[in-house]
Amino acid sequence: MLIAIDGPAASGKGTLARRLAVHFRLPHLDTGLLYRAVGAQCLVRGLLADETASADIARALNTDALNPDTLRTADIGEAASVVAARPAVRAALLELQRQFAAQTGGAVLDGRDIGTVICPQADAKLFVTATPEVRAQRRFRELEGRGEATSFGAVLEDIRKRDARDSGRASAPLVQAADAVTLDTTALGIEEAFAAALAQVQARAGR
Ligand code: CDP
Repeated sequence: MLIAIDGPAASGKGTLARRLAVHFRLPHLDTGLLYRAVGAQCLVRGLLADETASADIARALNTDALNPDTLRTADIGEAASVVAARPAVRAALLELQRQFAAQTGGAVLDGRDIGTVICPQADAKLFVTATPEVRAQRRFRELEGRGEATSFGAVLEDIRKRDARDSGRASAPLVQAADAVTLDTTALGIEEAFAAALAQVQARAGR
């Protein structure tokens, strides 16, 4: 079974993807980490403005060495969204995502363009949303928990900026696939959101 989960920053899609993968015993790819890894390398080398260099970095990416702990910072999220708007970067990361999705037995992938571009043939597609305020609150707590100094206002501004950039870009913008089910997690806790996601996936995959 192939499950595609998309949605904006801090909507809860990553948590749901991980939980669904455990439930169905499927491999899981957080595709945001790929863009974060490219963004992080561009930042370290001072190459964020260099389109050609960012595409070279994406082509040479070692996907065995993706460390969520070091890649989930606010600065790297911002850099990821900058490089993710570049068609050459997206093209460089396309095939490895499709290969991951093609594993025997299926997989769970989460990101921005899984249901639309990477796996249009997915058995179940979820589009996970929540209001910007609730997403900012979740991201703020997450960053605080990691010891990153920040304010709620700064996180909300970052979320709004990232939404605009991810939705407004020409190349694979964040957009709901026509056959995706919307899951609004604004008023849902993790367990409730997981129960709703599981029910949707079971209904779609069982058809
Ligand atoms: O954790 P969060 O939702 O904030 O972000 P992420 O999923 O780690 O993705 C970081 C950035 O990578 C996003 O803001 C997108 O610009 C980009 N991205 C993308 O363009 N396509 C994907 N499939 C996944 C991430």
